[in-house]
Amino acid sequence: MKTIPVNTSPAYAVTIGSGLLRDCGARLREVLPPCRLAVVTDSTVGPLCLEAVAESLKEAGYAVSTFAFPAGEGSKNFSTLSDILEFLASEHLTRSDCLVALGGGVVGDMAGFAAACYLRGIRCVQMPTTLLSAVDSSVGGKTAIDLRAGKNLAGAFLQPAAVLCDTDCLKTLPPAVFADGAAEAIKTGVLCDESLFALFEDGTLKADPAEVIARCVAYKAGVVERDEKEQGERKLLNLGHTVGHAIEKCSGYAIPHGHAVAAGLAVMARAAERLGWTEEPLAARIAACLAKNALPVSTEYAPEALAEAALADKKRAGDSITIVVPRKIGLCELKTMPVTELLPVIRAGWEA
Ligand code: GLY
Repeated sequence: MKTIPVNTSPAYAVTIGSGLLRDCGARLREVLPPCRLAVVTDSTVGPLCLEAVAESLKEAGYAVSTFAFPAGEGSKNFSTLSDILEFLASEHLTRSDCLVALGGGVVGDMAGFAAACYLRGIRCVQMPTTLLSAVDSSVGGKTAIDLRAGKNLAGAFLQPAAVLCDTDCLKTLPPAVFADGAAEAIKTGVLCDESLFALFEDGTLKADPAEVIARCVAYKAGVVERDEKEQGERKLLNLGHTVGHAIEKCSGYAIPHGHAVAAGLAVMARAAERLGWTEEPLAARIAACLAKNALPVSTEYAPEALAEAALADKKRAGDSITIVVPRKIGLCELKTMPVTELLPVIRAGWEA
């Protein structure tokens, strides 16, 4: 079992290990007194885990209500958010109660946002069940839903009361869903840790996933502690996401987040190298690593369409946009530019 503290306000711990869902009630009692817990999940995770989780929570003395919505990014909207909020009200949750987000990134983001809105904010526990949510989205307190104009455009920061990451869940993930998480872990390697990146380079993960999750979470915890509300350093975590979010939007969210981020990372790496911003050749190495992990390294959407979608993203500030540029594997920097310069950057990196 690995425990990583996140010293935000409030502070909390990310616990990573085998068997945590079966044992979640006792684990939560270490940080949360008996109260009503609303477990929110989706139609994929519910049939696999909900019964065991609810059982464990009840045994530990919690009153438990459960809610499941149809799985997929298409559910991450006002309509599902409204259903969750009405459910919390119908179950009479009060400010001393807590929501449990059991699932992948969509569940964690949307249920977290419901917790941030309901009664102007109740506590939330994150129980990530995918590699992507384990290495990235369950930690750091970002919650959101998508708007027609773009991804994650309505949301709030709500640090969870605890994160319980059961690595047994990863064993049942379809390969494409595992690859989605690998994309975010590879992104973290490019940001801060060449040896983490190297673990993915031959396409067969040469480490215990718990080790990979712990390294990604430890890095992210440090960034979030220094910049909880993304005023500066935290923007680095958006590596690959300017183009990645644009690809998701252009595809009508048919392309999953990790796959879109992989293509976005490959585009940005080629652009950085071709524009002379890198300290070493890195684009071919990043593309090879992504491809070995069954991830895309290019996109069918034209640079003009990507730039238009990206400029509706929340990374824009007035007439400027901040992108994340890889300098070498393990080191990236922020570059703020006029919005008119984004299209030439995407064009520079678009061709594989
Ligand atoms: N997923 C990027 C962040 O949490 O800031």
